[in-house]
Amino acid sequence: MENVTIMDHPLIRHKITRLRDKSTGTWEFRKLVEEIAALMGYEAFRDLPTEEIQVETPLETCHSPVIFGKKLAVVPILRAGLGMVEGILTLVPSAKVGHIGLYREPDTHEPTEYYCKLPDSIDERLVTVVDPMLATGGSASAAIRFIKERGGKKIKFLCIIAAPEGLERLHNDHPDVQIYCGQLDRELDKNAYILPGLGDAGDRIFGTR
Ligand code: PRP
Ligand code: URA
Repeated sequence: MENVTIMDHPLIRHKITRLRDKSTGTWEFRKLVEEIAALMGYEAFRDLPTEEIQVETPLETCHSPVIFGKKLAVVPILRAGLGMVEGILTLVPSAKVGHIGLYREPDTHEPTEYYCKLPDSIDERLVTVVDPMLATGGSASAAIRFIKERGGKKIKFLCIIAAPEGLERLHNDHPDVQIYCGQLDRELDKNAYILPGLGDAGDRIFGTR
């Protein structure tokens, strides 16, 4: 699928295995989500444009590249996406952070928006939407639609685990969005949980039930 990247780095795969393990506790789970986000961001930002600037080393003046132009925004889908923000910010500390609050209706699994606050000039920014789980794809698709309605144009989406159903839906709804998945899992269960998955990401990050 064009615009879809499934990560194959052994470090990411190793850390996802630790996430899946039900005996991994909240502190370690949170740390792993942050680390995986940073490793995925490293790959997802590979195509950031650079420009050469002049810099004086202790020995001489040279030209050397810096990230060019585009202002960055990171937008976690609440709650679980919050766990990925610090990982991305370690790579791009000057990025602005927006928030989109969605929850899935327990019966229909359809997303309902309860909060949205985005950085200004969203149309000029590269917007990286983060959420560890892409299950039916409803939340990610809606979040990206809200960002586009508010002017967002250049959007990437990072998730740690995707179900085939969600990946297909997101790609069909937003073929222009570059999607990065840490791992593609088998299927959804009848409650729209990912199998084998890792359970409820929000609960495991925040220690709730
Ligand atoms: C989870 C997850 C995604 C969504 C994925 O959030 O973090 O946002 O489900 O499911 P979907 O692809 O079927 O929409 P949840 O709604 O459980 O909220 P939470 O993060 O507050 O726990
Ligand atoms: N949200 C989660 O947190 N986990 C799933 O498996 C599906 C949706």
